[in-house]
Amino acid sequence: MRMVDLIEKKRNGNELSTEEIHFIIKGYTDGSIPDYQISALMMAIYFQGMSVKERADLTMAMVESGDQIDLSAIEGIKVDKHSTGGVGDTTTLVLGPLVAAVGVPVAKMSGRGLGHTGGTIDKLESVNGFHVEIENEEFIKLVNQNKIAIIGQSGNLTPADKKLYALRDVTATVNSIPLIAGSIMSKKIAAGSNAIVLDVKTGAGAFMKSLEDSMELAQAMVDIGNNVGRKTMAVISDMSQPLGLAIGNALEVKEAIDTLKGEGPEDLTELCLTLGSHMVVLAEKAQSLDEARERLQAVIKDGSALETFKLFLRSQGGDDSVVDDPSRLPQAQYKIELEAKEDGYVSEIIADSVGTAAMWLGAGRATKDSEIDLAVGLMLNKKIGDSVTKGESLVTIHSNQEDVQNVKEKLYESIKISQTSVEAPKLIYGEITK
Ligand code: URA
Ligand code: CA
Repeated sequence: MRMVDLIEKKRNGNELSTEEIHFIIKGYTDGSIPDYQISALMMAIYFQGMSVKERADLTMAMVESGDQIDLSAIEGIKVDKHSTGGVGDTTTLVLGPLVAAVGVPVAKMSGRGLGHTGGTIDKLESVNGFHVEIENEEFIKLVNQNKIAIIGQSGNLTPADKKLYALRDVTATVNSIPLIAGSIMSKKIAAGSNAIVLDVKTGAGAFMKSLEDSMELAQAMVDIGNNVGRKTMAVISDMSQPLGLAIGNALEVKEAIDTLKGEGPEDLTELCLTLGSHMVVLAEKAQSLDEARERLQAVIKDGSALETFKLFLRSQGGDDSVVDDPSRLPQAQYKIELEAKEDGYVSEIIADSVGTAAMWLGAGRATKDSEIDLAVGLMLNKKIGDSVTKGESLVTIHSNQEDVQNVKEKLYESIKISQTSVEAPKLIYGEITK
């Protein structure tokens, strides 16, 4: 097989075979096929697309390029959840203990964040002592015992994807739906779960800004999962404004605690119940979505979701007393109010630029090596549709520096106030189940 012939084949719009796709990915991973030929192929894919079969083949070739996690020693149907990322997305922190409390095994592998706020691991590290550096055996034992554990990403998971993603980044080929779908799904499949629930975000703060693109990405990922034997479904949810009220690591842990108590923001609670119900049904812990939702609401009400969160923190070295006393979480030195300049209704809270403001405070990483300040971030006091009077606080800025002028200016640009009443945006735009 010659790489040049395969580039030409794809350039002309023809379908690559399973063997050809595996040849390409294997050759790229071991260095026998150079960057320039893969760059040309990526550009051909960008313009010509890939069939459902090619996408599944590409995904499995990337899965097989590195380690695959074996979760077979964990009892039950393992269901993973993946979010395509957004601003102040606190869902993972809530969903883990929530579905674990109804008996769904949560064997989560997670990474650190880049951009807006930290990743799930960064957030959890705001709990004193909590760590994810545990051995595989310990991880499996904890999931069997507690139904939930989280481990740091294995170094050799989908190396082909790491290499390809870096190359796409500098060849203007990131934004191709088959390539994004394959990239995300390869990591999820290698992580070993039997079923996958995807939360595909749409809007200003999302990777995919338009609803049409978000639906297409969701469909592409669901097709890949179901084609390679992992039951997969997707929910398309709003990320025009940040989810919930908290944006920042310790602030989001506090928000997750509130939500597990049944006292969380409405949108975050609803999205967690929706995603959670699908996880419970896929794990066969309920017959229907309604029954699943009732079970989730019951564990919030009787306190067992919160107890599961404590057990989870304690089992990985964390100080679980933060759950009853969140003031033990890292606290910022200054709390500064962003006052509304006029009366009216909040019409926009542009998620990505609010995320940037949080990052400037130190809540996220501007580059891979930046340090995160776990205490800082933003608490929204208003969401789209709320009425506001002049002088009322729109946002409380939690900062460790006194001068937050640049952050304030960014927030004023991000939050629009209209004179006429505004409807809150829809939270869930659709579901793709097959
Ligand atoms: N996120 C990924 O993991 N891969 C992509 O290609 C794009 C976003
Ligand atoms: Ca939030």
